[in-house]
Amino acid sequence: MVKATFKINSDNIISEIDPRMWGSLTEQLGRCVYNGIYQPGHPLANKDGFRTDVIEAIKKLRVPLVRYPGGNFVSGYNWEDGIGPKDTRPVRLDIAWKSIETNQFGLHEFLNWCKCIGAEADMAINLGTRGIDAARNLIEYCNFPSGTYWSDLRIKNGQKEPFNIKLWSLGNEVDGDWQIGHKNAHEYGRLAHETAKAMKRVDPSIELIACGSSLHTLDTFGSWEETILDNVYEDVDYLSLHQYYDDNEHDIKKFLSSSVDLDSFISEVVSICDAVKARKHMDKTMYLAMDEWNVSYHSKESDAKQKPWQVAPHLLEDHYTFADALVVGSLALTLLKHADRIKIGCLAQLVNVIAPIMTNNEGNPSVWYQSIFYPFMQISNFAQGESLKVDSKVENYTVVNRDVPYLSSAAAVNKATNEIVLFIENKADEPAQFEYQLCNFPNVSLKKATQFAGYDLDATNENQLMHISDLKDVAIDNNTVKGKLDAYSWNMIRLSL
Ligand code: AHR
Repeated sequence: MVKATFKINSDNIISEIDPRMWGSLTEQLGRCVYNGIYQPGHPLANKDGFRTDVIEAIKKLRVPLVRYPGGNFVSGYNWEDGIGPKDTRPVRLDIAWKSIETNQFGLHEFLNWCKCIGAEADMAINLGTRGIDAARNLIEYCNFPSGTYWSDLRIKNGQKEPFNIKLWSLGNEVDGDWQIGHKNAHEYGRLAHETAKAMKRVDPSIELIACGSSLHTLDTFGSWEETILDNVYEDVDYLSLHQYYDDNEHDIKKFLSSSVDLDSFISEVVSICDAVKARKHMDKTMYLAMDEWNVSYHSKESDAKQKPWQVAPHLLEDHYTFADALVVGSLALTLLKHADRIKIGCLAQLVNVIAPIMTNNEGNPSVWYQSIFYPFMQISNFAQGESLKVDSKVENYTVVNRDVPYLSSAAAVNKATNEIVLFIENKADEPAQFEYQLCNFPNVSLKKATQFAGYDLDATNENQLMHISDLKDVAIDNNTVKGKLDAYSWNMIRLSL
């Protein structure tokens, strides 16, 4: 049996958890938008064509923020194609995903849909094939009250009040040579700076995200961040980082240690931001937007078989395993541990495309939950308030020169609900015994302890058999929580203060 001791102290707070931490991405890709969130004519669609069953499923995840319209798609997108009467909108080739884009879903539809799910928009602009001019027009259209060409066009298109979009992403993964309009760091840095300048002249109240690295392992990692920040440190509020993990090597121990890599990635980006801050004698701290993260790899073969130039093709429809859910859980814990710098997070993506929520075109249920839905649901609902520093004493295993603790944990204290929430993941193939000491807290009592456990690592959830169950073996003695955790398990313990 693996043994672990954890300790939290009420004085040892990492930071407030930004409510935007548990956001997501909806890209105009595959069946994420079309036949995912938007499907006019479907029996469960509302008058706007939005699937109400999907809205209900998303509400369970309490998604606070949605990045849109991409992803790679945005780097070839003309935002003007998605406004105005639907029968006049052009059908275009989407060369990022070799698909047909009908433009029946665009800016107004997205922002109206955000209202239905109670989320804020993070609007990504095209800095691949386009630039300053399209961006300044888009922000005039969205945020300027009236009396100009673009703001009056918005009013003509049915939206009297400005949308007042606060958060904007300056392009997508511009460092990757797969990106339409890929640029080197100098080219992107200059363009991002000039675009930020123009956008802020229209609306100085906006917040901006600059593109950081789209993979920890890219050759340009590090130098990319430095050059970009040299150009835009003064202009932007956040630097992005993207990371997807896979088990292509069929090495479960390595796969389950993915969060150790993510932890280094985040710490390294923080160091680079702080070095640039020092060099520039700045007071401002650069925050991070982990605006794409997930496991992604299962659909590679089936994607390759898809015929090009279809509308809403079945692309990136990974069916997630229980092992993937454990990895997603531990990645989320890593974000929580870095809550002082990570202020924005987007699980990529939300529906059908590498997603926690899947739709069936026909059949029952019309919506189903993937394995990764469960840990993400718990973290997005309960990792609120403040993130606490967790000291841990846990046995490690070693994989590719990495020390990997068998158990990882993060904790949150939520003053609004008077709760402490402990998350513990056991990566070992055997049960674990833990002790969690709560120092300097008033006496706590157990509110609810749950586990997500007991499935084969390869099991997927099309049959909807997976569920969260009660964690039985938990006791509290003198503000120390003790218990036993199943092998390969994700656990959440809620304590009342
Ligand atoms: O989420 C799928 C794709 O992964 C996104 O379009 C892109 O930004 C990333 O490479």
